[in-house]
Amino acid sequence: MAHTIVIFGASGDLTSRKLIPALFLLFKKNRLPEGSRIVGVSRSHFEHEEWRDALRTTTEKFAGKSFDAEIWNRFSENVFYQAGDIKEAGDFTKLGEFLSSIETEAHTGRVYYLSTMPQLYEEAIKQLGAAGLADDRDGFRRVIIEKPFGTNLKTAQELNRSIHSVFREDQIYRIDHYLGKETVQNIFALRFANSIFEPIWNRNYVDNVQITVAEEVVIGRRAGYYDTSGILRDMFQNHILQLMMITAMEPPARYDSALVRDEKVKVLHSVRRMTGSDFAVNTVRGQYKGYLQEEGVPANSHTETFAALKLYCDNWRWKGVPFYLRSGKGMSCRTTQIVIQFKNVPHILFGEKTRSPLGNRLVIQVQPAEGIQLHFETKVPDSEMKTRTSTLDFSFRQAPGGTSMPDAYQRLLLDSMTGDASLFARSDEVELAWGIIDPIIEAWKSPAAPDLFTYEPGGWGPTEAGEWMHRQKREWFDVCPVLS
Ligand code: BG6
Repeated sequence: MAHTIVIFGASGDLTSRKLIPALFLLFKKNRLPEGSRIVGVSRSHFEHEEWRDALRTTTEKFAGKSFDAEIWNRFSENVFYQAGDIKEAGDFTKLGEFLSSIETEAHTGRVYYLSTMPQLYEEAIKQLGAAGLADDRDGFRRVIIEKPFGTNLKTAQELNRSIHSVFREDQIYRIDHYLGKETVQNIFALRFANSIFEPIWNRNYVDNVQITVAEEVVIGRRAGYYDTSGILRDMFQNHILQLMMITAMEPPARYDSALVRDEKVKVLHSVRRMTGSDFAVNTVRGQYKGYLQEEGVPANSHTETFAALKLYCDNWRWKGVPFYLRSGKGMSCRTTQIVIQFKNVPHILFGEKTRSPLGNRLVIQVQPAEGIQLHFETKVPDSEMKTRTSTLDFSFRQAPGGTSMPDAYQRLLLDSMTGDASLFARSDEVELAWGIIDPIIEAWKSPAAPDLFTYEPGGWGPTEAGEWMHRQKREWFDVCPVLS
């Protein structure tokens, strides 16, 4: 079936930086379904040619070495532009007419990509419904919704309700671009295509799990959004909880979108909700020094740019195993990593009496040094029975034949066209995630909020976050990956 991808918010940054380069590269790899068309919609007025020219420049920049002028010319023949205002019903009628004029086949599937300001999502959905553009008798009609999906549980529920009044759940694709990352999908392979990890992937062998998303960048010019969002909304409710779900879930019976998402949702059901003193005991909040001087940030802002949470999954597999989730801007390097810290040996036979090896550790490097390392003890040669920690190291980039790591949007756009929703968030998933994060956001706003620690950019967040771990007789795995 032919496809049309309609991008609302066509003049926005995401469209030129991610969506069009991803669609172009899919076309280049012959992965884009035959005859796919792309229609950009936003308020500005462009001729088709003008928009194509602007996109050519940006795609050349963002696709880098993969850009190819001859292929671009063929690709861009199917790129169109239609001016339209989401608030104008008449513009949706015109859009419908335009789409019918270019879709010459009897059946054409359509994906509507909402890459607009989030405040416009509900309106866009309503207008699509009213103009008959959600009617899927002549081909599928799907809608992709960018993050943030609501700003709290209540607004997420409202948004779900209004979308469901126009689209069925199976037509809705809520994007979390972390799920499009190859290394995140590889967690499924690591866990469920190997027999050696699953038997020890539980409370009997694992001491704790650490999920860190550190970013060297500070907030730059994003104060308008960031200061009202803060790190819990920006990173935890979505990306970090997604990583936690995939790390903690049970194996589904099949790799099928309903079954995969059922298992992920069960993890969220099992997460113990914080109450009372938990907010003070199980969270650390921080703000980098200099945040208050960023352009657009109010001088008295208490917005967090760093957070560490300790969560528990109250289920058979994970009972009693802490999941430490941590993220920050202005950290020492950019790294997203999941550390499975195994328990120590029950009795130490070798090594210096004073040295207590930390036990085995599996480090899943999500980015930018995509790979997996297993840390284990080996004998120091030519010593008595002294041991040291050694590493088995797998790097995606150095693996034979497997060097290219496509951008997350390629995979997600393709899946939305082929109708595979496994890597998209379901309505219950989003609401449950808010149900975990919302109370923490509220508690941090209350007079009893834990202290907001400041930290120097370029480290691992507030020193208090390290002390907090030491008090629990644990240590963060604070290592910047080596990029080879
Ligand atoms: C976005 C957040 O969702 O994810 C940003 O809004 C963050 O604040 C970004 O920088 C991180 O994504 P990635 O793919 O660069 O790790």
